[in-house]
Amino acid sequence: MSKDNRTIGMWLYNNGGGDKIAKKIIKKLKDRDIDTINDLNLRHAIAKNGHILYEHHKKDIKLDKLDLFFSYNAGEQSKYQMYLYQALNRVIPMINSYDSFALTEDKFHTSFVLRNEGIATADYKLCHRDDGFQLKKIIKKWDKMVYKPTDGWGGVGLTKIESEANLDMLMPFLNQMDLRYFYVERFIKYDNTDFRVDIVDGEFVACYGRKASGTDWRTNITSGGSVFMREANDEIKNVAIKACKACGVDIGGVDIIYDLEKEEYVVLEVNGIPAFATPEQEKMGLDFNDRKIDLIVDLIDRKTKKHKNK
Ligand SMILES: Nc1ncnc2c1ncn2[C@@H]1O[C@H](COP(=O)(O)OP(=O)(O)O)[C@@H](O)[C@H]1O
Ligand SMILES: [Mg+2]
Repeated sequence: MSKDNRTIGMWLYNNGGGDKIAKKIIKKLKDRDIDTINDLNLRHAIAKNGHILYEHHKKDIKLDKLDLFFSYNAGEQSKYQMYLYQALNRVIPMINSYDSFALTEDKFHTSFVLRNEGIATADYKLCHRDDGFQLKKIIKKWDKMVYKPTDGWGGVGLTKIESEANLDMLMPFLNQMDLRYFYVERFIKYDNTDFRVDIVDGEFVACYGRKASGTDWRTNITSGGSVFMREANDEIKNVAIKACKACGVDIGGVDIIYDLEKEEYVVLEVNGIPAFATPEQEKMGLDFNDRKIDLIVDLIDRKTKKHKNK
């Protein structure tokens, strides 16, 4: 890290073509005189007094002296990494910022913030685990609802509750799980497809759709859903841009469905580390990777300039 050169740290997922994406980003940054320390896994970093140290080519580098850290690895984020992510972001810029990333990792906090910004989300209710009667009250009103772990992913743990009897059956299990709170959403009547809208730096990058498999109401790939080509209209793009702005993420993948009863687009969640198109998806025609890379490189360039001039 010389005095004039800019150096950033990067940690990007390797699977699904991520390694090739990382190489492209590194090259484009290099063209702008920005060096990258790649595969920078905070799991191997230690904090010592005023520094966060990381061994790289047998030398300790001070991560707190980097111009920026680009963290883009959803699968391997442990509590320790999140703890260092938070500390590091107190002294250097990060993409996404710790606060915005932590926000998007929590479904209740995300819906709360989005609703306060006037963005449509599923109606929800959060209550203390000892207030289970609140769930009884709300199922009477909603008819159908979804129980969601607030920190889940891939559709895992989502439970559809279709009647009061259903809820009575589920309650003993929920009570056993030693949860601190219950978070439920009104079940939205929709066509079992969604829009995934990718935004970088306030700009629309791409949209594709996901369709639930015949037997499931969840669109997640991990729940059997499949990706298909789909365009976004201006309304969808604007909702996604607004949602990212509300959450404060520089990069976001916004999941949107169309509520057939209320006749409006609803944001289900904002993903802070939306995947690039995989090689298979690129073959299908999803060709947004290069544009996304360019916008990310521009963003890193701008953010590191700002930092220098401070
Ligand atoms: N309130 C809801 N009403 C109807 N379907 C929902 C609702 N919430 C989620 N889903 C379905 O379940 C899937 C997963 O929900 P989501 O909140 O995105 O959690 P995850 O982080 O597990 O992907 C969504 O893609 C959607 O298909
Ligand atoms: Mg989702």
